[in-house]
Amino acid sequence: MTPPRPSNVPGTAPGSVFVGVSGASGAPYAVRLVRALGAAGARLQLSVSESGVQVLAHELELTAAGREAVTAAFLERAGATAQVFAPDDLGALPASGSSAPDAVVICPCSMSTAAHIALGASRTLMQRAADVALKEGRPLVVVPRETPLTAIHLRRLLELAEAGAVVLPAMPGFYSRPQTLQDAVDHVAGKVMSALGFAHDLFPPWDGGRA
Ligand SMILES: Cc1cc2nc3c(=O)[nH]c(=O)nc-3n(C[C@H](O)[C@H](O)[C@H](O)COP(=O)(O)O)c2cc1C
Repeated sequence: MTPPRPSNVPGTAPGSVFVGVSGASGAPYAVRLVRALGAAGARLQLSVSESGVQVLAHELELTAAGREAVTAAFLERAGATAQVFAPDDLGALPASGSSAPDAVVICPCSMSTAAHIALGASRTLMQRAADVALKEGRPLVVVPRETPLTAIHLRRLLELAEAGAVVLPAMPGFYSRPQTLQDAVDHVAGKVMSALGFAHDLFPPWDGGRA
């Protein structure tokens, strides 16, 4: 068995992680991230927005229909278990600073959800969970996906970074020489894992270009 490659960013990994899947393109990133978080032993909380359900079903070619069935099929694809919350369940535990998870990730993050978080105008549980992470000083990682980006998008993302979020666009690097699309997906998921402080072997660290 090949030993895991060392992570390039060690850190203190959170015990509980809330993952919000919004309606941006990038379902494979969410699958890989949730799989990696589950394998790393994180206690997972998950909420998929209504548009996220539509995108997951389309991009993963799921035969399931309806939010609960699509979310279950997504978790099955990821090989993970999670406490699942409806997107409008604003009374759920992740909505309060007194019962919030250790870290929040929105992957992928639509421009709509990014704007709502940046404006402090939470309309869904994932927006509120992100808002709580910021106000409580806990890690918030957003994985925006849109192109091209307007000045409006860029301003909202800057506001998120200024408020303490890690803005980690779904931009795979090619210095690790991905051989497959999955390798490129893994690169983005690995960057999120690093940002959260998890060791991982999703892509090899830069070797100085000597390989
Ligand atoms: C197939 C599909 C792909 C989409 N891709 C993106 C995208 O990459 N980025 C984005 O910001 N919005 C994208 N959208 C639009 C969002 O889903 C839409 O703005 C929605 O209102 C976002 O709501 P949410 O943030 O609550 O999930 C996409 C929509 C669909 C149906």
